[in-house]
Amino acid sequence: MAHAFLALSLAVTVNAIVSISGQTLIVNGVDYYAAPESVSIISATADMLSSAATIGVDLIPLTVMEDTTSSFTTSVFRSIVGNYTSSDDVFNAGFLQAIYLKHTGSSPATVQYPLGAALTEYGTKLFMPSRAYTSSVEAQGHNFTGWRTELPPGPYFMSASTGDIYQAYRLYSDVQGAFTEGLKPNTDGTFSILSAAIPGAQSLTIGVPSRLYYTKTAAQPLAGVRLGVKDIYDIAGIKTSCGNRAYYDLYPPRNVTAVAVQTLIDAGAVIIGKMKTSQFANGETATADWVDYHSPFNIRGDGYQDPSSSSSGPGAGIGSYDWLDIGLGSDTGGSIRGPSEVNGCFGNRPSHGLVSLDGVMPLSPNLDTAGFLTRDPFLWHEAAKALYGSNIASNFTSFPTKILTSGFPTSASNEANTILLDFVSQLQTFLNASTTALDVESLWSTNGPAAAGGDSIDDYLGIVYPVLIAQQQYSLFTLPFYADYAAAHDGKRPFVDPAPLIRWAYGQNNVSADATTQALQNKTVFMDWWSTEVITPSVESCSDSILLYVGSDATPNYRNLYRNSPVPPTGFSISRVSNFAEVPDMVFPIGQAAYNSTITLQEEYLPVTVDVVAARGCDGMIFGLAEALTNAGILKVPGTGSLMY
Ligand SMILES: *[C@@H]1O[C@H](CO)[C@@H](O)[C@H](O)[C@H]1NC(C)=O
Ligand SMILES: *[C@@H]1O[C@H](CO)[C@@H](O)[C@H](O)[C@H]1NC(C)=O
Ligand SMILES: *[C@@H]1O[C@H](CO)[C@@H](O)[C@H](O)[C@H]1NC(C)=O
Ligand SMILES: *[C@@H]1O[C@H](CO)[C@@H](O)[C@H](O)[C@H]1NC(C)=O
Ligand SMILES: *[C@@H]1O[C@H](CO)[C@@H](O)[C@H](O)[C@H]1NC(C)=O
Ligand SMILES: *[C@@H]1O[C@H](CO)[C@@H](O)[C@H](O)[C@H]1NC(C)=O
Ligand SMILES: *[C@@H]1O[C@H](CO)[C@@H](O)[C@H](O)[C@H]1NC(C)=O
Ligand SMILES: *[C@@H]1O[C@H](CO)[C@@H](O)[C@H](O)[C@H]1NC(C)=O
Repeated sequence: MAHAFLALSLAVTVNAIVSISGQTLIVNGVDYYAAPESVSIISATADMLSSAATIGVDLIPLTVMEDTTSSFTTSVFRSIVGNYTSSDDVFNAGFLQAIYLKHTGSSPATVQYPLGAALTEYGTKLFMPSRAYTSSVEAQGHNFTGWRTELPPGPYFMSASTGDIYQAYRLYSDVQGAFTEGLKPNTDGTFSILSAAIPGAQSLTIGVPSRLYYTKTAAQPLAGVRLGVKDIYDIAGIKTSCGNRAYYDLYPPRNVTAVAVQTLIDAGAVIIGKMKTSQFANGETATADWVDYHSPFNIRGDGYQDPSSSSSGPGAGIGSYDWLDIGLGSDTGGSIRGPSEVNGCFGNRPSHGLVSLDGVMPLSPNLDTAGFLTRDPFLWHEAAKALYGSNIASNFTSFPTKILTSGFPTSASNEANTILLDFVSQLQTFLNASTTALDVESLWSTNGPAAAGGDSIDDYLGIVYPVLIAQQQYSLFTLPFYADYAAAHDGKRPFVDPAPLIRWAYGQNNVSADATTQALQNKTVFMDWWSTEVITPSVESCSDSILLYVGSDATPNYRNLYRNSPVPPTGFSISRVSNFAEVPDMVFPIGQAAYNSTITLQEEYLPVTVDVVAARGCDGMIFGLAEALTNAGILKVPGTGSLMY
């Protein structure tokens, strides 16, 4: 019997199909992942083999160094090392174990080989000059036959036995719980889940490739930009969760990447992971609403504030991680704006309809939009140009000179109010503008559209949002999901969090079956009124005015509180204007204000932000304004961590 067993297990072993999904390594105490795909090959030398034997692994850390000078000297070498260290978080001096020099400058006058002290200092064992110097190197016992000009500079791993070169990813822990999966690209345009985990943080591991591999070009303005994608966008090779475990389990990996995501990839963006969403992109408050997945942690202040929803993963990640550049979120009723406001970053709900949402989970197609969350206003605009193309206007020659404010404080009664009033005052000076307070409810009641028949704005618009999301998501998404799940699970219904369930029930039970038709009519009446009576197009400034409202004013919203059950999001407020009028609504972080934390028992700081609204299609003007205000020092680029500045 023992014999039979042995034979069986041998047969299994012989037939096993083995593939390597990358390797993890530690270089100078930092965790790395060597991607499994060889990007180039350099012939192995006796030195490489002996070096590998010395360090005991086949993969040797290697730096491809690009020299553009005419004389590669010790000081040039030190300068390049300094530049790589300051511009890239993936490179570290441990990668100077071996150097592959790529000379792209004019013919060098001199090469000081082997750079003596500078190399000894870094413990560099191998120095591989370009073909131009092959003979002098050969004279010293080296032989390099595979000169690879296509290899971009940066840190790599090289197999000493085969000469294969692998990209190096630095590994980070998602300690704030902002991601659902770390991703890496395959060579065929699909993605894989990163097969690496670093010890000690009880968190997902995310890998980022070296920034030195990428050069921005006109065709690839986002080259090397690290992008996190809300997990309602499909990515080929990867399952989509939409924030629901049953949904993730039910469907296979997607075959096609969502159009919006593919557009960003084509522009050079590097997708490093999928990021958390509240369930089916509905509004959920930390913590109890988040049953299937734990709500991400907002790092600002005491670290126990609600991160808002539904693009909370991108919001929390952008507030926390300097190794993440930008997040792709979606905003149906505030899902980009809310997280941007409380996690302290820039974020845009664009004009409706700027980009295809094929391959994205629907909430309400009449309201759904794709936009960004980021700390960097210049990258924000660059990414928007890549995503929206000619659909965002740069058809303005000056900024608007009329500022409308809604819900602003009237006196500098506390720190946040002081920041808000200072901002309006600086903006007014910068634009040479007039400022008028707008009370949209009373403007509607005195000057509203005839079609509204004298109804208050709350009566007319108060259920438009919950009707559209509940009825449209239910028919477009929930019903097919329930049917597919039942077919696969003996007729069972999948688990769904309380918030989406209550909303869908509202759409089915509390309003009529034709409420969506009525809601769209009401929405259209409002949109026409708003764009003719409140913010109108302008030839010079695209939008005749901009509207500012308070995004966040450092009021705490703790995640460790027990709350009431979720309810349908009824009622009108100023943040609904952009949803219904289809206009851009963009969050600018303008400061931080203190509060006394019940967690730390100390003063902590939370973000103060404003929302900026303009006429439809004038997104480009608001991006331009954010850049101009940053250049003028009126806006400051927020950092990561508890404090924004
Ligand atoms: C290092 O960066 C500085 C600043 O960008 C640049 O002036 C210098 O030429 C760089 N050094 C090398 C050797 O490329
Ligand atoms: C270098 O490689 C070439 C081509 O394989 C070979 O002809 C030559 O002898 C080698 N030189 C040394 C020094 O190993
Ligand atoms: C992906 O393509 C395969 C092969 O064509 C197909 O069997 C599978 O159902 C597709 N998956 C999805 C999610 O469309
Ligand atoms: C500001 O606007 C006023 C009135 O429109 C105009 O007279 C003045 O020249 C403007 N100032 C600047 C600096 O543009
Ligand atoms: C929806 O209907 C239920 C049952 O009639 C009622 O209890 C609930 O208050 C209603 N919800 C809303 C938001 O109208
Ligand atoms: C649309 O407006 C009418 C008139 O005020 C109101 O009775 C109705 O509830 C609104 N319907 C929806 C779905 O918003
Ligand atoms: C925090 O509490 C201290 C002591 O009561 C008080 O002096 C301080 O003004 C408070 N800070 C804020 C921002 O409320
Ligand atoms: C500017 O361009 C946008 C997008 O093409 C368009 O929606 C808007 O109407 C234009 N505005 C003006 C004033 O021409």
